[in-house]
Amino acid sequence: MTAYLIRNVSVVGGAPTDLLIRDGVVAETGAGLTAPDATVLDATGLVALPGLVDLHTHLREPGREDAETVESGSRAAALGGYTAVCAMANTSPVADTAGVVEQVWRLGREAGLVDVQPIGAVTVGLAGERLAELGAMADSAARVRIFSDDGHCVADPKLMRRALEYVKAFDGVVAQHAEEPRLTEGAQMHEGEVSTRLGLTGWPAVAEEAIIARDVLLAEHVGSRLHICHVSTAGSVEVLRHAKARGVKVTAEVTPHHLLLTDEKATTYDPVYKVNPPLRTAADVAALRAALAEGVIDIVATDHAPHAVEDKECEWAYARPGMLGLETALSIALDVLGPQWDLIAERMSRAPARIAGLDSHGLDPAPGVPANLTLVDPAARRVIEPAELASRSRNTPYARMTLPGRIVATFLRGEPTVLDGKAVK
Ligand code: DOR
Ligand code: ZN
Repeated sequence: MTAYLIRNVSVVGGAPTDLLIRDGVVAETGAGLTAPDATVLDATGLVALPGLVDLHTHLREPGREDAETVESGSRAAALGGYTAVCAMANTSPVADTAGVVEQVWRLGREAGLVDVQPIGAVTVGLAGERLAELGAMADSAARVRIFSDDGHCVADPKLMRRALEYVKAFDGVVAQHAEEPRLTEGAQMHEGEVSTRLGLTGWPAVAEEAIIARDVLLAEHVGSRLHICHVSTAGSVEVLRHAKARGVKVTAEVTPHHLLLTDEKATTYDPVYKVNPPLRTAADVAALRAALAEGVIDIVATDHAPHAVEDKECEWAYARPGMLGLETALSIALDVLGPQWDLIAERMSRAPARIAGLDSHGLDPAPGVPANLTLVDPAARRVIEPAELASRSRNTPYARMTLPGRIVATFLRGEPTVLDGKAVK
C-alpha cells in the first residue's frame, strides 16, 4: 500500500500542516514530516476535510442502469469529495428485502470508490401498505440502519408509527419524504405566485409541513429516531425548531438545490428544474440557509437523482422529478456558506456519518483516524459541463455555471479514489 505525504494542507481551515497517510489511516500530522517511502503531494492552498458523507443518493441500480449504476454514481461521489453515500431504496426491484440491499452493498464494495450504505424501504414495493422486512435488512450483510420510502411518503400514520417502533430495537432511523399525497395530487411545481402565473398545479408548502408536524409527534410518542429528507420550506423549519426544543430525536437535511434555486426557474419550462419537493421561494431559501447555519437543519444531502435523457428532456408535465448533485454539492455549499470549513465539515461529513452510524467516516484527519478525507482547492473556479460529469445522466441544473471550489483528491481508507481532480479508476 502506497503511503502519501500531504504537504502544507489546512486541516478543516486550520494552519497549514503535513499529513502522513499510511496503511489506511492518518499515521502522523505536524509540520515538516518526513517519510522517504511516501508519495509527496504538495497541498499548498488546499483544505483537507473529512470525506463527505451523503445521506441521500439515488444510484438507480438495480433497474435503471441506463441512468446510473452503483459504479458510475460512486465515481461521481468520489469526484465530489465523498467517501460514503447512502443509496436510496427506490430501485427496481425496490430495496425492500435483505437480498436487494445485499446486492447494492456488494456492488458498492466491488466498485471500491466510496462506501455504499444501502437504505432499506419502509414498505413493501414502496406501496405504503405493508411494512417491509426491516429486521432482515438490518441483520443482513448490508447492516441497514436507515429506512425510507423516498420518492413516496409513508402517508399512513399507523404504518409510520409501527416503522418507528420497529427500528427502535436496533437504533435505526426512519427517513421520511414528507409529502401529504392528497395535497399534492397532480402537482407540477411549488404552489404560489409563480405557479398561478404559469397556470401549473401547485405543491403547497403545507403538504410537507403537515407530515413533518405529524411525524415529529409520532417520533416523540414512540421515542424513536426520525430523519426528514429534503426540507424545503420556511414553515418546516419552524416545526423542526419546535420539535428540537422539545427534545424530539429528529434530524433534517436540505439539498444544495433548495439552498440556491427558486421556483422562478420554472418560468423557463426547462424540466431540469423539476424536482420533488419543488424549488420554493426566495424567502424559503433564506430560511433554509439560516436553519442550516443555526443547526435546526443538521446536514446537506444531495438527493442526487439521475434520470435518462428521455425521462428529462420532454414536456415539463411528463418529466421525472430530480437533479444531479454529487459532483457539485461542495461547490454549492461553498457558494452558499462561504469558507466556513468547520460548518461545512459538520453539515456534510460529521453529522451525516453520525446519523447513518458510519463510524469510520466523518472524522477529522488526526493520528490513528481512518484516512477517509478529501482535499479541496477553494480558490479554483470551474465551469460545469454536463458532458464532463462522471454520472451517466446529464440532468444538472448548474450547466455552464461557474462555481467555486474544486475537489483535488479524495482518499478512501488511505487509497486515493481521486487524484489531481481525476478519478483514479
Ligand atoms: O426529485 C426527486 N427525485 N425527489 C424524490 O423524492 C425522488 C427522486 C428520484 O428518485 O428521482
Ligand atoms: Zn424524496
